[in-house]
Amino acid sequence: MIKDRIQELMQQVQDMQAQSTEQMEALRIKYLSKKGEITELFNQFREVPKEEKKELGMQLNALRTMAESKLQEMKEVFEAQKAAEDKPDLTRTPEPIPLGTRHPLSLTKEEIIDIFSRLGFTVAEGPEVEDDKHVFGMLNFAPEHPARDMQDTFFVEKEDGVQKPTDVLLRTHTSSVQTRVMTSQKPPIRVLCPGRVYRNEAISARAHCFFHQIEGLYIDKNVSFADLKQALMYFAKEMFGPDTKIRLRPSYFPFTEPSAEMDISCNICGGKGCGFCKQTGWVEILGCGMVDPNVLESCGIDSKEYTGYAFGMGGERITNLKYRVKDLRLFSENDVRFLRQFEAC
Ligand code: PHE
Repeated sequence: MIKDRIQELMQQVQDMQAQSTEQMEALRIKYLSKKGEITELFNQFREVPKEEKKELGMQLNALRTMAESKLQEMKEVFEAQKAAEDKPDLTRTPEPIPLGTRHPLSLTKEEIIDIFSRLGFTVAEGPEVEDDKHVFGMLNFAPEHPARDMQDTFFVEKEDGVQKPTDVLLRTHTSSVQTRVMTSQKPPIRVLCPGRVYRNEAISARAHCFFHQIEGLYIDKNVSFADLKQALMYFAKEMFGPDTKIRLRPSYFPFTEPSAEMDISCNICGGKGCGFCKQTGWVEILGCGMVDPNVLESCGIDSKEYTGYAFGMGGERITNLKYRVKDLRLFSENDVRFLRQFEAC
């Protein structure tokens, strides 16, 4: 009886086939699990008369070994198939590697640097974490000037965590780089100072707690307001097109005297008046002026021998004019759908 059953199962095991690992597992359970058909035979084997034990035992063992090795073979085949699927297909056409784009603020900055470099300006950089002296003190800010107030300036806390005005702060303009250049170099000085600056403002479409500036400084003998005007006019025409007009309006900065703000003719309507320029035909782009003699003196430059001009503009504002980016927040969100639009620039 048991002998016939062994033969039967031998045949079944020989014909065993599985299309998937699930089917393979089902076969293992059917024959070799605790209640499997082969295991069952081993249980019956205990009742077999002694004289038959030897032969039947051998056959039974052979059956089990055969089932085990057949299942093992199947397992290896499935594993090999899986490994082949996971391997990259080297004959496939490669996908193009997506190229990165340059950030619009960098594009603007580089264009501005490029224009002023044709007038002999070089780039100077300085620290973003600054001291009061370089950001305000040497730039003729009165000790009680409101720009020093907590509302505008981020002061850096001392290690004890006490929040009180300290001498260490995040620069609110890159004029701090100019004080560093003036104290370390001798005139003639002709530098551009691009960089990130920080002001304590609520974040909205029109204001952010940090933005980018590009400031310029030129100090030499006999530098006049006419030189400033000429340089800025050249810049405006190179940046916004040859038909661009400029106008200077009197203004006030502690570090320049006289000071002015410069408008350009609206580059959207060409000066006729539109929504963008609020029907005025003009848009403001920068502040400028003749370096105040007090600033020169505090930086160790003889104000009787030398004069100079300075100007400063916001990178975001120029980028907005050039590429129509209205919401400032777009610049720092790193949304690739926004950044990709500058691929061709
Ligand atoms: N530092 C000024 C600002 O941050 C800009 C400026 C620079 C104005 C140089 C005049 C001259 O607003």
